Amino acid sequence: MKTIRQATRLGYKHVAKPLLFKQHPDDVHHRLVRTAKVVQKVPVIRELPRLWGYQSSFLEQTLLGSRFVNPVGLSAGFDKNIDMASVMRNVGFGFMVGGSVTAKVCDGNPKPWFHRLPKSHSLVVYAGLPNQGVERIAARLTTYPRRMFDDFPLVVSVAKTNSIAAATDKEAIADYCASLKRLERDGVAPFYEINISCPNTHGGEPFTTPERLEMLLAAIDDLAIHRPISIKMPIDKPWVEFRALLEVIVQHNIQAVTIGNLRKERKGLKLQDSLPSQVKGNLSGAPTREISTRLIHNTYKHYGSKLVIIGVGGIFTAQDAYDKVRAGASLVALITGMIFEGPQVVGDINAGLVALLKRDGYANIAQAIGADVK
Ligand SMILES: Cc1cc2nc3c(=O)[nH]c(=O)nc-3n(C[C@H](O)[C@H](O)[C@H](O)COP(=O)(O)O)c2cc1C
Repeated sequence: MKTIRQATRLGYKHVAKPLLFKQHPDDVHHRLVRTAKVVQKVPVIRELPRLWGYQSSFLEQTLLGSRFVNPVGLSAGFDKNIDMASVMRNVGFGFMVGGSVTAKVCDGNPKPWFHRLPKSHSLVVYAGLPNQGVERIAARLTTYPRRMFDDFPLVVSVAKTNSIAAATDKEAIADYCASLKRLERDGVAPFYEINISCPNTHGGEPFTTPERLEMLLAAIDDLAIHRPISIKMPIDKPWVEFRALLEVIVQHNIQAVTIGNLRKERKGLKLQDSLPSQVKGNLSGAPTREISTRLIHNTYKHYGSKLVIIGVGGIFTAQDAYDKVRAGASLVALITGMIFEGPQVVGDINAGLVALLKRDGYANIAQAIGADVK
C-alpha cells in the first residue's frame, strides 16, 4: 500500500495536478463529481481507491456514539449533494461531512465559484451553498447501504438556504429546522453539523453573534434531536468574541464544535500569489491553518470537558493534523489538502499520524488529544 501511495503521489504531482491545475477549478470540481458518481456505480473500480488507505488500531476511536476507524474526515463542501460517500470511504477517510445541505434547492452564487492560489496552497471559495435541497439529498441517503455508515460516520452539514427569502432571522431559523426535521425523519445520518459561518450568502453570517446564536440553538433544542450536533465556527473572530459564542453553545443540546470555516479577513495575509480585490470569496487551505489551530487550543483549554472538537483548516500533512490533535481536536477534516496533494494524502496522513504517535509514546490517538494544552 505504501508503494502504491508513493506512486500515486508522484503521478498526481507530476502528471495529474499540472493537467488539472491548467483548467478552471469550477470545471475540475464539476468533472470530478461526475466521474466519482460513475466510479461509484462500478464495483471493481469503486474498490480501487482502497489501495490508498491505511489502517491501524492506533487511530481507532469511539466518539459521540460513533465508531471512527481513523480521525481524518472530508470537510463540508466537497461533496455538496452527498453523491460520493462510497468513493470517499474507499479513499480512506474515517468520516465525511456532506453538504452543506439547505431546506430549499439552491443554485449558489453566480460563477466563478473557485479561484486557485497555487503558491499559497489555498482556494478562494465563492460557491454560496449550491445544493439540491434537503428533500432530494435525504432521499439519496437512504440509497446507501445503511451499515456503510457504521464505521464511516456521515455528518450532514446543514446551512440556511442562500436566498433573499431566508434572510430574516425567523425565516433562517425555520430553514435550518426544516432541514433537520427532514433528516431526522429517515434517521440516516448519525451526526449533524450546523453551518453558521458560511460567509458567501445573502444576509451574511447572522448567527455568529451570541444573541442570535442563542435564538437559533433554542429553536434546535426544541426539536429534541438525540444525535450529536456540531457547530461549524467562523475563524475570523478574536478569542473574546469566539468564546462568547462557545458560552452560548455549551448551554444547549450541542456536543461538538468544528473549528473552523474559511478565512474572510484578507488583511495581514502574506500570500505568494496575487489576489485582486475583484476575486470574490474566502480563503481555504494554508491561510487558515494557524488561526484554526490556535482557536482549537483555546477552546480545548476552556471547554475541552464539554465539547468534542473537530479541527479543520490547512491540513496537508500528518504534522498539520497532529498539531490540531495535540491542540485538542479529537477528529480532523480537510478539503484543500486533498486537492493540492492528491487522494492518497488521506492514507499518508494516517500513516504519518501513527509514526508520530509511536515517536511520542502513545498507544492510541485519544492519548494525544490536547497534549500541548497546559
Ligand atoms: C470547495 C470548497 C467548498 C466549501 N463549501 C463549504 C460548505 O458548503 N459548507 C461548509 O461548512 N464549509 C465549506 N467549505 C469550508 C471547508 O469545509 C473548510 O472549513 C475550509 O476549506 C478549511 O479546510 P481546508 O483548508 O482543509 O480546505 C468549503 C471549502 C472549499 C475549499
